[in-house]
Amino acid sequence: MRKIVTFSTVLTVLFFGVNLYAASYKGQRIYSKQCVKCHGRQEFIESKTQKEWKNLFQQKGQKLAKIHLKSEKAQESWGYFESSKFQRKSHHLEDFLVEYAKDSGRVPACN
Ligand code: HEC
Repeated sequence: MRKIVTFSTVLTVLFFGVNLYAASYKGQRIYSKQCVKCHGRQEFIESKTQKEWKNLFQQKGQKLAKIHLKSEKAQESWGYFESSKFQRKSHHLEDFLVEYAKDSGRVPACN
């Protein structure tokens, strides 16, 4: 009996662990592709708290999109922020950024 309990605990932990990993992994891929070229990695992600990142992603990321769409310097990113892909996938990006925010205590394994 004890063995079975231990085994199912391990399975549960694995399942949730992998799920969490999968979600922020998708966000990390988006970040690498769409954001790194202008903002760099760790330092920028850690420049904001979890609350600040969540705030930027309100209404499917519209706040974040607007910051870029009104800046000439961010012109290269306009296509992405205007796309429906950004709106559909912005929650993955949010998961990733919130997970590694300044006050999350975690460090992204960027490679
Ligand atoms: C083409 C370059 C470019 C790309 C690509 C880009 N940004 Fe930006 N971003 C900028 C510029 C320029 C600003 C400053 C806008 C202003 O304030 O005038 C900015 C501002 C920001 C800000 C607010 C300023 C701050 O430091 O608080 C955040 C947050 C941000 N970007 C996140 C992102 C994320 C997340 C992505 C990827 C989805 C991304 N950016 C992609 C150029 C870029």
